[in-house]
Amino acid sequence: MIVIGGSASTNLAKDLASKLNAEYVQATTKTFPDGETYARIEREALRGEVVIVQNSYPNDKLIELLLLQDAAIGLGAEKVTCVIPYFGYARQDERFNRGEPLSAKVMVDHIQMNADKVVLVDIHSPEIMEWFKKAKVYDVHAAPCVGDYFKEYGVDLVLAPDEGALRRAGWTAERLGVDWDYLVKTRLSGTHVHMTPKNIDAKDRKVLIVDDIISTGGTIVAATEELKRLGARSVMAACTHGLFVGNALDNLKKYVDKLACANTLESEVSQISVAPEVAKAILQ
Ligand code: R5P
Repeated sequence: MIVIGGSASTNLAKDLASKLNAEYVQATTKTFPDGETYARIEREALRGEVVIVQNSYPNDKLIELLLLQDAAIGLGAEKVTCVIPYFGYARQDERFNRGEPLSAKVMVDHIQMNADKVVLVDIHSPEIMEWFKKAKVYDVHAAPCVGDYFKEYGVDLVLAPDEGALRRAGWTAERLGVDWDYLVKTRLSGTHVHMTPKNIDAKDRKVLIVDDIISTGGTIVAATEELKRLGARSVMAACTHGLFVGNALDNLKKYVDKLACANTLESEVSQISVAPEVAKAILQ
C-alpha cells in the first residue's frame, strides 16, 4: 500500500502512512500562471491499493484531488482509496432555494468516478453517504481521538453546543468517562448565535465543548459565555474541522482556556490526529 499526500492534507497523510506501515509519497503540485492546477505522482508505476489523502476544500484542493485520482489510475493503481478529511460543500446537501444545485451530490459524483473506497471524517450530514453508489464509503469519527487527547486536562463535563452535536459529545464523554449535556442554540446570523439559558450543572466544573465544525467561532463564543454564566471553572473547546474563517482563531483564544481540533484541516491548533481511526477504516 502507498499513501499519497495531497497539498491540503500532508500532516495527516504522513501520520497515516506511518500507522499503516505504508510508503509515503508526497504529490507534486503547483499552480500554473493562469490559475490552473498541476498535479503529479512522481513514480514510475503504481500497483495494488493506493491511498490518496486530500481535502476536497477549498476549490483548488478539490481539483487537485480529482487530478491525483486520475494520475494514480494512469500509473496502474488497482484500487484507489480516497481519504477526504474535510469534505467541501457538505453543508450544501439540499436545494434550499429553487434553481440551486445539489452541491454535495455533485462532489460525490465526481469523486466516486475514480475511487473504489472513500473515507470521510465526521461528515456534516450522514445522508451524503447514501449518494456513494459506486465507491464504498466510510465515515470515521474523531471523537475517540478527541477524548484521548483531552484525558490529561481533567475534563468533568462534555457539552454539545446544540442538540445536533449531542451524539458526538456523548462519544467523547464516554471515552473520558464523564457526563455530557447540550445547549439550545438559535442562529441569529452567519456570525452570531444565541444560547437559550438552560439549567446545566456546570458550576465549578471543567467543561469541554465539542462540535464538528468551528467556522466563525460564534457558536463556541456563545456557548462559552453561557457556561461562564453558569459558573464553569474552565471552558475548553474542541472540534473536528477547524475552518477558523477571518480572525476566528485569535478571537476564540480570548474566550476559551484551551482549544484543539483534529488535523483534517491544518492550523496551529490541529493537534489531534485522526490517523488511528482513519487507518482502521482503510484496513476494513
Ligand atoms: C452547525 O451545524 C455546525 O455543527 C457548527 O456548529 C457550525 O458550523 C459552527 O459555526 P460557527 O463557528 O460559525 O458558529
